[in-house]
Amino acid sequence: MRTFTCAQCHVEYYCGSKDVLEFPWGSGLRMEDLEKHWDEKKFPDGSTFFDYKHGETGALVYKVQHPEFELWSQGVHARSGVSCADCHMAYQRIGAKKLSTHDVRSPLDNINNACQNCHHVPEQDLRDRDARIQTTTIELTERAAGDMTDMLDAILEAKAAGISEGKLAEVYALQRKAMWRVDFIASENSQGFHADQESARILGESIDCSRKAEAMAIRLRTSGKPDTSGLTKTPVIGVSTRKGQ
Ligand code: HEC
Ligand code: HEC
Ligand code: HEC
Repeated sequence: MRTFTCAQCHVEYYCGSKDVLEFPWGSGLRMEDLEKHWDEKKFPDGSTFFDYKHGETGALVYKVQHPEFELWSQGVHARSGVSCADCHMAYQRIGAKKLSTHDVRSPLDNINNACQNCHHVPEQDLRDRDARIQTTTIELTERAAGDMTDMLDAILEAKAAGISEGKLAEVYALQRKAMWRVDFIASENSQGFHADQESARILGESIDCSRKAEAMAIRLRTSGKPDTSGLTKTPVIGVSTRKGQ
């Protein structure tokens, strides 16, 4: 119940105008379980569920809210029974009384009370562990976002070449998957800390989906022929053929 207090808000949900508020937990709490829930959901008028239509490609995609609860549920602290309030509202002593802090914020501002009750290691060690997890997650998120941009460019080129919407349906499905995955970690506010392995797994999947969609879009545009549009002539090693170099 301590965790569900925070899980009223720090979660993924639908909160738009086309239906009532909904938590997508019917199939479980993992990223794929939530995605499955949205994939199977229809709006009350029977139409396909989506959050927004992508401004450039026109694909119907989902927008992740802030899935702290769901990501935390896949991490080592959840497995060890450590709840949100244990870190974010750590106990403190005031005179003879033991109280939980109510300035809910980053536990890194309060490592002594928030972490060192359980982890009997120097504060700097805990800061370093956290920094390593968060830096890795941010770098991987940036790579996934870069790959997503390459995917979008490839889809736009395929559209410009006249590839039909019907043929692009499978590409759009991959676009939705890739974007849902990178957004899941980018919108979650711990930058990987709540479940580091799970964050890396989800970002790895995003990269895979973006690259598959990109390859599929290029294949459709070049109708199976190898794509040579980016190549002019065989580059001569040591001699740049680019202007100004
Ligand atoms: C009624 C909804 C709601 C509930 C319940 C709730 N939060 Fe929040 N929380 C928010 C919103 C909204 C923000 C963003 C506030 C802002 O940006 O000004 C926030 C911000 C935060 C922040 C970031 C604060 C900062 O430093 O900027 C933390 C940490 C946090 N909440 C943890 C928790 C924990 C832990 C619980 C359970 C004990 C909890 N919240 C319960 C809505 C909620
Ligand atoms: C083991 C400790 C721990 C537990 C348990 C934990 N968190 Fe966190 N949380 C952290 C750390 C560490 C950060 C990263 C803070 C930072 O980057 O400054 C963080 C970041 C956050 C943030 C962003 C805070 C900010 O300053 O922007 C929110 C919101 C949050 N957690 C909510 C939750 C919720 C909700 C739960 C339970 C479902 C939870 N946390 C469980 C340690 C914890
Ligand atoms: C209530 C006890 C408790 C609190 C509070 C707590 N932890 Fe933990 N933490 C654990 C347990 C238990 C594990 C799992 C250890 C194991 O299996 O060896 C763990 C694991 C970790 C790990 C390893 C994670 C991984 O994926 O390998 C890190 C890093 C960590 N904690 C940092 C922190 C930080 C930073 C804080 C404070 C924000 C914190 N912990 C607060 C109990 C706690």
